[in-house]
Amino acid sequence: MDRKAEEAKAILKKYGQEHLLNHYDSLDEKHKKELLEQINEINFELINSLYKNTDKEPKKQEDEITPIDYLDKYKLNDMYKYYENIGKKAIKEGKLAAVTMAGGQGTRLGHNGPKGTFDIGLDSHKSLFELLADNLKEEGNKYGVTIPWFIMTSRENNKATIEFFEKHKFFGYQNNKNIFFFIQGELPMVDTEGKILIGEDGLIKQAADGHGGIYESLVKNGMTKIMRHMGIEWVFIGGVDNCLVKMVDPVLMGIAIDRNVTVACKSVVKANPHEKVGVFCKRNGKPNVIEYSEITEDMAEATDENGELLYGESHILCNLFSVDAIERMGANPLPYHVAYKKATYMDKDGNIVVPDSPNAYKFEAFLFDAFGSVDDMAVLRVKREEEFAPVKNADSAGVDCPKTARELYKKYYHLD
Ligand code: UTP
Repeated sequence: MDRKAEEAKAILKKYGQEHLLNHYDSLDEKHKKELLEQINEINFELINSLYKNTDKEPKKQEDEITPIDYLDKYKLNDMYKYYENIGKKAIKEGKLAAVTMAGGQGTRLGHNGPKGTFDIGLDSHKSLFELLADNLKEEGNKYGVTIPWFIMTSRENNKATIEFFEKHKFFGYQNNKNIFFFIQGELPMVDTEGKILIGEDGLIKQAADGHGGIYESLVKNGMTKIMRHMGIEWVFIGGVDNCLVKMVDPVLMGIAIDRNVTVACKSVVKANPHEKVGVFCKRNGKPNVIEYSEITEDMAEATDENGELLYGESHILCNLFSVDAIERMGANPLPYHVAYKKATYMDKDGNIVVPDSPNAYKFEAFLFDAFGSVDDMAVLRVKREEEFAPVKNADSAGVDCPKTARELYKKYYHLD
């Protein structure tokens, strides 16, 4: 073993992860170098402490949960035009960019390839990426601008994503001029004994660090710097899998500017009090999202004097941030949540094991955990049928699947 490998061995010994070098000698030079780089970059202290906490979700029971104020887009009356005009002006001045988070694994959908390349079955056979591109181009045209588009991929799907865009001539966008790709962060996966897994390539098995990794990735990859250089002040961040997402919304933007908040989020009202979605709330006085599993039955059903659910505003991953807010959020680490997943790995004898049930912990940060770092944000209720058609599951699940998304899309655009 060379000097660098010996140094890596010493690091691993300290954290009980020496097995990661078991196959080092059989790797080619490129992989040897990559493995040593991984070992130098990984925060083993963090991984070991995350493993120790795998049986305990962060303690939240003592938090004080209260309802959050929201505006209803269709009950703004005269204020609708007022906010819209403020937002329109800022969009025309080129102050808005869109970010699409496309680094997820899309395990529930089970599509072979990045989720954005998925064809939801419209007659046009357009992919999710193309539907999003159509929306951005159409909106940009309304205001005489090209909305810069930033796409977050993962190390796993980055190449396939860029190849897809190349094949489709970037849907009219110009690479590195008004479309930018960047790769999100990763964390190692660990087995039930706390040992980090080795992947099929002999390197450390890593997985994307969740959509909460967006802030740090935007900053670390120099995207916020590019944004500032382009004069962008506001950034809409959304998922790749909502084919009705409206990334350019002058009303939302006008509200953020007029109310002087750094984050403005869209919500749709829960389909029923017990729908399994996270809802906006205040946690210890700060904006937050509470998950359905955390909410009591009484809270889920509680209504205000107008009969509206007190905790009824679902978080749909449609959020607008100031560039300042992104940079601040990117500087503060978020808590990681643990998921137990199936992960193919290389065992100690060098055999590739493809498990048929979950075998490893994956650590993910959630985007909304950063909301608590702002004092106030605006929540705007929009119409589900206009803005929310997610593709999460395969058709067999019957909900949030290609079939339901296709129907909603067709209805909205009168395609039948
Ligand atoms: P989901 O939480 O629905 O995850 O992501 P997913 O990866 O698409 O699907 P499952 O859970 O494996 O079935 C919501 C949005 O956040 C993005 C996804 O690409 C999607 O647009 N995301 C999620 C990331 O960009 N990175 C991540 O690490 C996780």
